[in-house]
Amino acid sequence: MRASPVVAGVVLAVACRGRPLPNGSASSSARSVSSSALPQPPPSSAAARAFYGPHFSKRPYPPDVTALGRLLFFDPALSASGRQACASCHDPKFAYGPPDARSVELGGPELDQPGLRAVPSLRYLDKVPRFSEHFFDEDLNDSVDQGPTGGHTWDGRADTLHDQARAPLTSPFEMANTSMEAVVAKVEHAAYAERFRAVFGADVFDEAERATNAVLLALEVFQQSPTDFYPFTSRYDAYLRRKGELDARETRGLALFDDPRKGNCAHCHPSQGHHGKFPIFSDFGYVALGVPRNQELVKNRDPTFYDLGLCGPLRTDLSAHEEYCGEFRAPTLRNVAVRRTFFHNGLFHSLKDVLGFYASRDTTPARWYRGAHERPPYDDLPRELRSNVNQEPPFGRKPGEAPALTPSEIDDVIAFLKTLDDADVAPRAK
Ligand code: HEC
Ligand code: HEC
Repeated sequence: MRASPVVAGVVLAVACRGRPLPNGSASSSARSVSSSALPQPPPSSAAARAFYGPHFSKRPYPPDVTALGRLLFFDPALSASGRQACASCHDPKFAYGPPDARSVELGGPELDQPGLRAVPSLRYLDKVPRFSEHFFDEDLNDSVDQGPTGGHTWDGRADTLHDQARAPLTSPFEMANTSMEAVVAKVEHAAYAERFRAVFGADVFDEAERATNAVLLALEVFQQSPTDFYPFTSRYDAYLRRKGELDARETRGLALFDDPRKGNCAHCHPSQGHHGKFPIFSDFGYVALGVPRNQELVKNRDPTFYDLGLCGPLRTDLSAHEEYCGEFRAPTLRNVAVRRTFFHNGLFHSLKDVLGFYASRDTTPARWYRGAHERPPYDDLPRELRSNVNQEPPFGRKPGEAPALTPSEIDDVIAFLKTLDDADVAPRAK
């Protein structure tokens, strides 16, 4: 929630977290424009999107499509190595996030090609709006332009789960098929090929495009299955339903999470739902947090390489927008405590370090950055782009000042974050 409250049509204290001015003060990309003045994002009805594309000779029955999608998601035979399924990286025991503490997972035909980014959880993604450079949140205040929001992956370059499923199947450092035709050929020879014909029609494999669509649709529809992907079974959900309590430490943690002068976490990871909807703990907006460079990533051995998120190089359509460089999409914090790798580059491996970074990025930069004497020190951005880094609380303090959160307050926030684990996820290894 970047938008500031509006009273009688006046935007109060507009503070967009997105784009600080070069002098470090917050600029106003959260402009007070009328929502009718700018193009609106297209309506994103999942149903409308799902049946877009070549028609099937049989109208598929959704539960059957879900069941096929589940088979595909767990089938390692769909990869070039024969050993990697979607579930290898997106493990249901870890809320469809990474199964281990690696910064990035390995893929490719020999399973030796490192990726560039940490594996996100696939839970609660049905709430991600389509990518838009100008987002207006109808639930909050639809007259404020919140700037870039939504889309799939850390830089929002895939618009739908349908588009997104194509990428891992053919990415050379993931499942590494040479084409979608190669994927379709595997499905056609899988034990469940007959079920595909029964669901989509006997001719489903006759045309590569139709078969590709069936595969992507099945993966998309599976990822919308409520019990698997948005169960809302955390202790915090029980608390919101007034069916459970938070203990004293968790209650303090929630207060620190919400407090604009302390964690200020809810500013970007909202903890309250609206209109009876449960909170997802992300507004899906884009921010440059100045996460330190991860020297372990193979790509980062090249000192001229930078993963700049929205402005590239993986995403290519916004490369002219320097003001977006370094921005990544805020992830959901549901099930975050079961992760063992954090942020887009997988630099951190414990919530203590993540919270320590939020609290003391600017007060003790030497703890986080090589070359910390540089001003500003954000070492995973070329110098001329470092002014893009967000300076709102908990950030923006001066070196030597007290951090935004004390060690005991950090423990309280972590205790609260643990209440966001769904009932079925693996308890985090101690
Ligand atoms: C080798 C590990 C790996 C495999 C295998 C893999 N993924 Fe991913 N997945 C990732 C990574 C890494 C990202 C983040 C990519 C980025 O931001 O550029 C991602 C992102 C996603 C996203 C976007 C999530 C979001 O937050 O918007 C979806 C959806 C997804 N994967 C689905 C799948 C499906 C479906 C499959 C199987 C067809 C699959 N993945 C296979 C590693 C993997
Ligand atoms: C100004 C917006 C903003 C604020 C304030 C903020 N976050 Fe974030 N958060 C983000 C963004 C954006 C990312 C992803 C950044 C990246 O990977 O480059 C992120 C990532 C995270 C992650 C890593 C999740 C993952 O899956 O890797 C955690 C944990 C987290 N935030 C917790 C918090 C907590 C706790 C607070 C309060 C102390 C907080 N955030 C405050 C925007 C924010």
